[in-house]
Amino acid sequence: MTTLTQNEMKKAAAEKAIEFIQPDTIVGVGTGSTVNYFIDALATIKNQIIGAVSSSEQSSQRLKEHGIEVFDLNSVDNLDVYIDGADEITKHMAMIKGGGAALTREKIVAAVAKKFICIADNSKQVDILGRFPLPVEVIPMARSYVARELVKLGGDPEYRQGVVTDNGNVILDVHNLNILDPKALETQINNIVGVVTNGLFALRGADILVLSTNQGTKIIK
Ligand code: A5P
Repeated sequence: MTTLTQNEMKKAAAEKAIEFIQPDTIVGVGTGSTVNYFIDALATIKNQIIGAVSSSEQSSQRLKEHGIEVFDLNSVDNLDVYIDGADEITKHMAMIKGGGAALTREKIVAAVAKKFICIADNSKQVDILGRFPLPVEVIPMARSYVARELVKLGGDPEYRQGVVTDNGNVILDVHNLNILDPKALETQINNIVGVVTNGLFALRGADILVLSTNQGTKIIK
């Protein structure tokens, strides 16, 4: 049996996801190293699609470099699919995202799409979310207040130094959360004044997981 590296697994999941792209559609595109492989694969069928809506400046740049047209989300009525990675995903398809600081735009594009297709290698599968620190995007002037409120919820927030999101905000990474009820916590954190959004994708989780393992790539619905 051949042993795949993590990058080879990311690439395998990304390439498999091309099967979900319908001709003459606009594709919702996420952010991250797994998505970078997806963008490269999308370029091979670029003449069959209209273009993409992107969740970050980073992905927009890679799409454009491949000659794929990037549309403003406001000019698009609906999206069939949104393809993105995750930092963690459970069997209930709830995720932690935002390791790449793109969580807010990711959540917005995901909200518009009919189907969220998560592409991941098997290191991302977990029983309980929270070992990966939960990213929270915060309006800069609210940073200390939000951090104190997150401590009240049992977390240890850490300011992600030197990072400014595409929306001009900052990120707090919340350590030591044991997330037993992801939907409730997603709502609770989003209700803290000054929070733009948090990296829990549970209220709108993935519809399909394309999961790459050493035994092959599985589609989980
Ligand atoms: C970006 O903000 C994230 O939500 C990414 O989708 C997530 O971190 C997965 O990234 P990788 O594919 O690089 O692991």
